[in-house]
Amino acid sequence: MERDDRKTVTSCFSKVFQKKALLSTKIYAEIFDQIPEARKFMQGDVLQQKEGFVSVLIEAMKMPQTGEAAERRMEELRQLHVQLGVTAQQVERALNIILEILREELAADLTAEEQKAWDRVIRTFGLDLAAGLS
Ligand code: HEM
Repeated sequence: MERDDRKTVTSCFSKVFQKKALLSTKIYAEIFDQIPEARKFMQGDVLQQKEGFVSVLIEAMKMPQTGEAAERRMEELRQLHVQLGVTAQQVERALNIILEILREELAADLTAEEQKAWDRVIRTFGLDLAAGLS
């Protein structure tokens, strides 16, 4: 991840946040379509999905690359997914869906630089999460 990515995603967060309903609807529909097993883990409630999606954005945006607090939080998130029985492969597939929808849906709202920063921040975060699962 580039050094300034965190600053960039923070500065344009509101543009992404504004589209949370559209983004979460598309992302969950695509995840449920392509990873049907995910349905049993995730709540069907649309409001809750929207909040869950916003938490993912915020966690990814805020998570520092290094440091004890970041490692502790990442370990907690891995444990949460392990306990649910979510596999590394499922997380990677969901990550690719998220990245693709963010690319498509935000193209008109973000600059190319902002798009790339979001892509790197979410990708790094999701791969780090997947790395601890089996
Ligand atoms: C098929 C793959 C996945 C499944 C089934 C899954 C499932 C879940 C579930 C059930 C929760 C519990 C909280 C809730 O119900 O909202 C959760 C939390 C979370 N997941 Fe995943 N997840 C997947 C992939 C991912 C990916 C790709 C990321 C990151 C890019 C991610 C990041 C998170 C984060 C940050 C939380 C905590 C949210 C919060 O604190 O509300 N997950 N996940």
